[in-house]
Amino acid sequence: MAQSQQSPLALVVLISGSGSNLQAIIDACASGQINADIKAVISNRADAFGLNRAEQAGIPTHVLDHTQFSDRRAFDQALSQQIDHYQPGLVVLAGFMRILTEEFVNHYLGRMLNIHPSLLPNFQGLNTHKRAIESGSNQHGVSVHFVTPELDGGPVVNRATVAIEPGDTPELLAQRVLQQEHRIYPEAIGWFAEGRLKLANDLAMLDGEPVPQLEKH
Ligand code: GAR
Repeated sequence: MAQSQQSPLALVVLISGSGSNLQAIIDACASGQINADIKAVISNRADAFGLNRAEQAGIPTHVLDHTQFSDRRAFDQALSQQIDHYQPGLVVLAGFMRILTEEFVNHYLGRMLNIHPSLLPNFQGLNTHKRAIESGSNQHGVSVHFVTPELDGGPVVNRATVAIEPGDTPELLAQRVLQQEHRIYPEAIGWFAEGRLKLANDLAMLDGEPVPQLEKH
């Protein structure tokens, strides 16, 4: 689609919390690592620290408090209006802790990415670090994926593996996973900005080849 041909690629980033991934993307844009420009940051929480990071970088911010809307659909419609005002080529979910309606997801199909702290399709949903440790596995990680209507179910475009060490706690593991998040999310956004990454027939295509997907275990 023409939108992925924007240069620089216009991004709108959605957050709910600390925004350390947002910071990594801000830094990657500023350094020229990726040919993209963050047009706005939108949070569903007024106290999200990521809003400060955006303001520091001179990026417009908006708060859309989901508790002020009658239902999920009304919130998603308002959110979509706010996003579309900036005509982004890519919508980036960076710790945005909201389940999205199918209508919203389909509106951005092929131009919305999410980062999820597990090796998808394993550990969809919440508390991924704790669940990974409790599973007895010695491997965990993080995935960037295209967003589709199935929660945390869209095709993975980039991933990193993180070893689970003896005596690991969810907090320690989360820190090491976050370091990888800050590397692989800008990388994936860079691929999209260069027109190398696309969603086609439910597959994530990088340089014309489907990105390999993992088996659930
Ligand atoms: C990150 O670990 C991200 O992968 C996770 O929230 C954290 C946000 O950190 N996202 C999810 O769990 C989505 N289901 P940040 O605000 O510091 O970027």
